[in-house]
Amino acid sequence: MRTLLGSPITRGLCRLAVQNSKRVGEWSFRREYFSTSAVCFAGSKYRPSSCTNMAQKVPFVQFNNDLKFPIFGLGTWKSPPGEVTQAVKNAIDAGYRHIDCAHVYGNETEVGAALKEKIQEGVVKREDLYITSKLWNTFHRPDLIEPAIKTTLCNLGLEYLDLYLIHWPQAYKEDEGLFPEKDGKTVYSDVDYVDTWKGMEKLVKKCLTKSIGVSNFNHEQIDRVLAIAEIKPVTNQVECHPYLNQKKLIEYCKSKDIVITAYSPLGSPDRPWAKPGDPQLMDDPKLKEIAQKYGKTTAHILLRYNVQRGLITIPKSVTKSRIEQNIDIFDFELKNEDMECIDTFDCNGRFCHLNWIKDHKYYPFNIEY
Ligand SMILES: NC(=O)c1ccc[n+]([C@@H]2O[C@H](COP(=O)([O-])OP(=O)(O)OC[C@H]3O[C@@H](n4cnc5c(N)ncnc54)[C@H](OP(=O)(O)O)[C@@H]3O)[C@@H](O)[C@H]2O)c1
Repeated sequence: MRTLLGSPITRGLCRLAVQNSKRVGEWSFRREYFSTSAVCFAGSKYRPSSCTNMAQKVPFVQFNNDLKFPIFGLGTWKSPPGEVTQAVKNAIDAGYRHIDCAHVYGNETEVGAALKEKIQEGVVKREDLYITSKLWNTFHRPDLIEPAIKTTLCNLGLEYLDLYLIHWPQAYKEDEGLFPEKDGKTVYSDVDYVDTWKGMEKLVKKCLTKSIGVSNFNHEQIDRVLAIAEIKPVTNQVECHPYLNQKKLIEYCKSKDIVITAYSPLGSPDRPWAKPGDPQLMDDPKLKEIAQKYGKTTAHILLRYNVQRGLITIPKSVTKSRIEQNIDIFDFELKNEDMECIDTFDCNGRFCHLNWIKDHKYYPFNIEY
């Protein structure tokens, strides 16, 4: 099972980063990013709460299939295999019960080791945990879907997933690794995600996953899925933070009883294609000002902003102190005036744009939402 994991993926991501480093300058800002004088965070009054019973403080959202899911979880993209086991164990000890994984992250075996240890120690039971994974773009062809989830289950050491997502709407050429390339360009497959959805439904019927959903789908793509769906997607996992607040997509999904899961809530500063000089969400002076006012960190404000909008939120960290800090957002509330102020920061600031595959017929970000 390890053969699909590890260094080839990292190499693939790094290659993409290098290839596309010129293209990410397209991001435009509608607000003056550096206009406010910087507020030094050193004076923050933030003190962590006790982690005891933190798990009980995390609210659940209800999916359209009546299953519940914790509104807060741990992201694992870019968490190195050598660090992620400890990170997940620290997260479970700190009260996290929801872990966001994906085959393409190349670390599901190491995530699984942490789950196994914490279950064996008696800290949690399997049914206390909510584990998400995602079908990668090279496995969209209907005959590849069940083998793909079975690989993930084997790597994670689980008998079922709580949630399995189509990672992206666009498919890549099958059978040539996770990042098939020709002449430096990703090689596409024309599998329609609607056919992939029919395959995802079979996984629920076979009890390989409790719920299914999509990720990075625009509203037209969700409409196409809904038109043929026997089982509705419970969530659309998309990038969401103050620079890309997804107001219209959230409204649309809400009208269809689909919950939004917000990824990159801290602005994904460790994304492989980040360049020096790129905007840093956590350094935003206005967010720092708000954080100071509440005696919280900027990360707290960003995470609370999403959760307070009812969005499932999944920050990634491999740092014990940050893992503990990030979940500590259930003892305060942002005032309406501050929520409204943060709403105005939206500037279509997408960090995970994958704009090097813009010409794929199912690339999701060529329309407004
Ligand atoms: N469906 C998709 O296509 C998709 C795409 C992107 C992400 N995701 C999911 O969403 C998760 C989160 O998104 P992300 O990983 O892109 O980025 P993120 O959670 O916005 O940011 C992670 C980065 O922030 C740092 N960090 C975490 N907590 C911090 C704190 N309190 N103070 C300062 N820095 C902090 C982390 O550093 P350390 O780790 O060094 O502490 C890491 O560098 C992913 O891991 C993945 O599970 C899904």
